[in-house]
Amino acid sequence: MNSIKPEEFKELVKEKEIIEEIKFEQLTENSLKEINELQKIFPNWTRESSIKKIRSTIRGKDFRFVVKKNEEIIAHVKFLKKKSIHEHIAEMTSLIVNSSERRKGIATKLINFSIEKLPKKIKLITLAVDSKNKNAINLYKKIGFKKYGLLKKGSKIREKYVNNCLMVKEVNKN
Ligand SMILES: CC(C)(COP(=O)(O)OP(=O)(O)OC[C@H]1O[C@@H](n2cnc3c(N)ncnc32)[C@H](O)[C@@H]1OP(=O)(O)O)[C@@H](O)C(=O)NCCC(=O)NCCS
Repeated sequence: MNSIKPEEFKELVKEKEIIEEIKFEQLTENSLKEINELQKIFPNWTRESSIKKIRSTIRGKDFRFVVKKNEEIIAHVKFLKKKSIHEHIAEMTSLIVNSSERRKGIATKLINFSIEKLPKKIKLITLAVDSKNKNAINLYKKIGFKKYGLLKKGSKIREKYVNNCLMVKEVNKN
């Protein structure tokens, strides 16, 4: 039987890390071709609604960022632009990481990457999260979001109301 010596195993892992190319990207005009990839991470989105969503990003209504591993989308987040007197605020929604890629720091890196890319006029990032979603709340706290309220019945999921924890992070302070 062939056995692998520890030093050889290390080399194999190193090789695997090189092969697994991780990229952080902002979706842009060229992103309509990403629809199939997006649908893999959001299987509940119909093709029609995925096209609509990307078109609204292209029209500048929001900012979308993804993580790609070997060209396959493995994580996504969106920042909705606010208007008029709220122009300095963006609402973060639709954060998801593929279940096989969780707990590797992907969401943390994606959010930090996105915040860097947002226009400097954005000063506050807000979000609303199911108050029972402890994993996400832990993540948000860890990257500096603070709870500023609780919106009872803030969302309706599968015909059931859920309370939302409202959180905010100040960015671009200078
Ligand atoms: C929440 C979610 C985006 C986290 O993505 P992730 O890439 O695994 O997060 P990270 O690896 O960057 O985790 C950062 C921190 O968040 C917290 N966290 C993330 N997943 C956790 C879990 N399963 N249990 C406890 N804490 C968790 C931890 O504090 C973690 O830091 P640590 O690993 O050093 O302990 C991911 O689990 C997911 O897609 N969930 C389903 C969709 C969802 O709930 N989206 C948020 C909607 S508001």
